[in-house]
Amino acid sequence: MLISTILSGGAGTRLWPLSRQAHPKPFIRLPDGQTMLHKTLLRGARLPGVAELLIVTNRDHYFQTQDECMAAGLSSVPTRYLLEPCGRNTAPALALAALDIEQRHGPEACMLVLPADHIVQDLNAFARAVAQAHAIAQQGWLTTFGIQPTHPHTGYGYIEVGEPLHGGHRVVRFVEKPDAPRAAEMLASGRYLWNSGMFCWRVCDLLEAMQRACPDLLQAARDCWAQADVQANPVQWPCAAFEALPDISIDYAVLEHADRLAVVPGQLGWSDVGSWNALADLLPTDAHGNRVQGDVTLLDSNNNIVIGGHHLVAALGVRDLIIVDTPDATLVAHRDKAEDVRRIVQRLRDSG
Ligand code: GDD
Ligand code: MG
Repeated sequence: MLISTILSGGAGTRLWPLSRQAHPKPFIRLPDGQTMLHKTLLRGARLPGVAELLIVTNRDHYFQTQDECMAAGLSSVPTRYLLEPCGRNTAPALALAALDIEQRHGPEACMLVLPADHIVQDLNAFARAVAQAHAIAQQGWLTTFGIQPTHPHTGYGYIEVGEPLHGGHRVVRFVEKPDAPRAAEMLASGRYLWNSGMFCWRVCDLLEAMQRACPDLLQAARDCWAQADVQANPVQWPCAAFEALPDISIDYAVLEHADRLAVVPGQLGWSDVGSWNALADLLPTDAHGNRVQGDVTLLDSNNNIVIGGHHLVAALGVRDLIIVDTPDATLVAHRDKAEDVRRIVQRLRDSG
């Protein structure tokens, strides 16, 4: 039995101003008109053996998320919501999801963790990879999905691939967000894959790994779970107990320390749409290398990304720019600075 567990909580600050606190990255509409959350819900629901979609999100996004479920037409798979009063990152979110699944479906149920702000273009390859990961997870392995790395990105987890194992591989080590020299070294060695952020494991194995790697976090999650009305749907985690959980990702809290870790490599057409350059890859290119969406007129301009849609955006004689226009904020940045857009968000937060 598989429970597709949808993680929908991060802000996605590098896609500002389309991604905001009130309108985070999973709700960004892609060029085909669907949001990333919509696509993830379909991806999670259409796999064989899926008994439930468990959606873990902030309580402020409950209604918006329900709208996405309706739009995706998910009536055949039961949906359940775990609502968070604030963000505490992925380790607490997944600990509570595991406790919920354990109680309702038993300790051997498998959770398939799917981040709601990614795209996967090859759904057949994805289904094959999930089937393989499910088989490995049933043998008691915490199973990751590995992506062939293309450059020394410092925002990803790196997975060192070991001996073959039930159609996948053992993991020798897991390194979360290395610094630039370490990332370059791992890329050059040819032995590492990127961590996609999707996982498959039995809840008993995740809880056991947490008991060893982060027992305090697990205990805090148990306390929070015990105080909630878990018969309800949606479940609302009580504020004080939830806020007592540490803010840490599953990668740092568990995966870097886990010993029964496996990886299934896959060419899934995966992207975490981590920057404007990645989002622009989904748009067609014109003869001058521009990628545009909305009502846009460009003259003597090359290699720009221009996202409009609310009114006409026109540019003349510019190159290598990102221009994103929304009703209340406009971004103009050099494409080389795409990774740094989050600095603007930080500056806006700092200045209140
Ligand atoms: N419900 C909930 N609550 N979801 C959350 C929270 C939270 O507090 N924080 C993050 N998420 C969701 C995000 O929406 C995203 O879908 C997923 O969990 C991963 O969180 P990110 O914050 O985007 O993580 P990351 O991109 O820095 O790193 C992870 O993903 C990389 C691949 O994209 C790690 O797993 C890396 O190892 C991995 O390479
Ligand atoms: Mg991410």
